[in-house]
Amino acid sequence: MTTPVASPSSGKYTLATRIFHWVGALLIAGAWVAIEQGDDYISLHKSIGASFLIWTLLRIINRFVSKAPPHPPMPKWQTGVAHLTHLGLYLAMLAMPITGMLMSMYGGRGVSVFGLFSFPSVVGIDREMAKLMNGIHTGAMFYVLIFLVVAHVGGALYHQFVMKDNLISRMK
Ligand code: HEM
Ligand code: HEM
Repeated sequence: MTTPVASPSSGKYTLATRIFHWVGALLIAGAWVAIEQGDDYISLHKSIGASFLIWTLLRIINRFVSKAPPHPPMPKWQTGVAHLTHLGLYLAMLAMPITGMLMSMYGGRGVSVFGLFSFPSVVGIDREMAKLMNGIHTGAMFYVLIFLVVAHVGGALYHQFVMKDNLISRMK
């Protein structure tokens, strides 16, 4: 008797998880494109970044209530690396906007979200802390995020073109 082998593409993340994933990717790209345009776009950068934080918090709640589909067969070390990268991505996705917001708040500036509402400052003015947050935001965390995204997208491409297991359809 043959045992049916689950097709790698048979499991999909829920629709909500897929929307959270792709809109999140767009927001990150938007925050980056905005800041690359220069100082005139800092306010837009902050609005997109703060929206990304709210989006990510909702996404994490959603992730707890909607389970991931079982992963396709692959070596244990690969699922380990994938899970570690995902955990790292979630942490970096929180750290990026939080350090950005703290940088602004320690600098005595508010964080308005597209002029719709503002986050109340949770810290007092402190130049040293503002500098530290700036260093973490633009110097350290950004490179950690880029590293993780490159590893993540590289992994997805490896599955698509080398393993040819259509893993990407789980997130499509
Ligand atoms: C998705 C989240 C975010 C990403 C990926 C991100 C990324 C970046 C990057 C790449 C830079 C430019 C670094 C440089 O040119 O040296 C930057 C600068 C900056 N970010 Fe963010 N950021 C995010 C969220 C935020 C948030 C939520 C705020 C504040 C509310 C913020 C405030 C700032 C400020 C004020 C600067 C300018 C710093 C300076 O010119 O010294 N960012 N961010
Ligand atoms: C073209 C770009 C991207 C592609 C092709 C892609 C593809 C994928 C795929 C196929 C999965 C499912 C992995 C699995 O089945 O185990 C996934 C999950 C994930 N992706 Fe992406 N992704 C991209 C961009 C991003 C970006 C920019 C971020 C965040 C900065 C991100 C964060 C995540 C996270 C956190 C998960 C884990 C979901 C979970 O299980 O909770 N992705 N991605």
